[in-house]
Amino acid sequence: MSVESFKRFRTLIINNLGFYFPESKKNLLLARLSKRITKLELGSICEYEEYLFKNDTELSHFLNLITTNKTSFYREREHFNWIKEHLLPTYFSQSKGIFKIWCAGCSSGQEAYSLSMEMLNFKKNNKGFDFRIYATDINTEMLGKAREGVYPIKLSSEIPLIRRSEYLLKGTLKKKDYFKFNEKVTSKIKFSYCNLADLQKYSNNTFDLIMCRNVLIYFPRAIQSEIINNFNKYIAFNGYLVIGHSESLPKDIMYLESLKSGVHKMLSY
Ligand SMILES: C[S@@+](CC[C@H](N)C(=O)[O-])C[C@H]1O[C@@H](n2cnc3c(N)ncnc32)[C@H](O)[C@@H]1O
Repeated sequence: MSVESFKRFRTLIINNLGFYFPESKKNLLLARLSKRITKLELGSICEYEEYLFKNDTELSHFLNLITTNKTSFYREREHFNWIKEHLLPTYFSQSKGIFKIWCAGCSSGQEAYSLSMEMLNFKKNNKGFDFRIYATDINTEMLGKAREGVYPIKLSSEIPLIRRSEYLLKGTLKKKDYFKFNEKVTSKIKFSYCNLADLQKYSNNTFDLIMCRNVLIYFPRAIQSEIINNFNKYIAFNGYLVIGHSESLPKDIMYLESLKSGVHKMLSY
């Protein structure tokens, strides 16, 4: 790939996803694009470059190849324990409204389904509690998988046994190697497209909890600050922002207090 071509791809990535793709990752870019080149039966990266810039519909395929979508059920489980043991009992003792969660950067849905199971379990033992989960991502292919909500059976081992028996439906015949969630779990989640780096207006809601884990890490510090400042408009009074264990908030963010690894509370004035 020529230097010029790499720069064109990189500009497209910054303008659309908000993150900087360093030259050191040129081979990664090549590897990701090569599958698409084969699928389109094109002969080279040059041909793909021409195709991409001539066909508007190719842009979303290209961007889908660029994002990193690694996820799992109950990833960074301590956060789920904290939600179950501290956040929900505290919330419910003070408020009887609908508990609203924004799962920002939800990938193929595992985080949102894990949250829904924990919320349902709390609801079962606390009459009057209810919740909604709004789950968003920029990757349209991942959103398709999330909405479909069908996963290989081997991934069910990531889910606590007690939840599996209550909320999972195992496939039969041709689908015997897959599972999905029952309607109790799925009906509480709405999946939609949202670009965090270009957040004009997301919702009229404010959220009691924003989960944005393992997403910020891909953005330069300035864009991270912008994203967090945007979240500020959407976090409810006494609400929380949870980021990944390996992430940290930019230093200029003063209105969120760090409580424990990844967990931040909105400061009240
Ligand atoms: C590594 S996954 C994290 C998934 C999940 N939050 C977790 O911790 O398991 C990062 C997700 O962020 C999404 N993402 C990347 N850039 C984005 C952007 N500008 N707006 C919204 N989502 C974005 C990716 O598509 C990807 O699904």
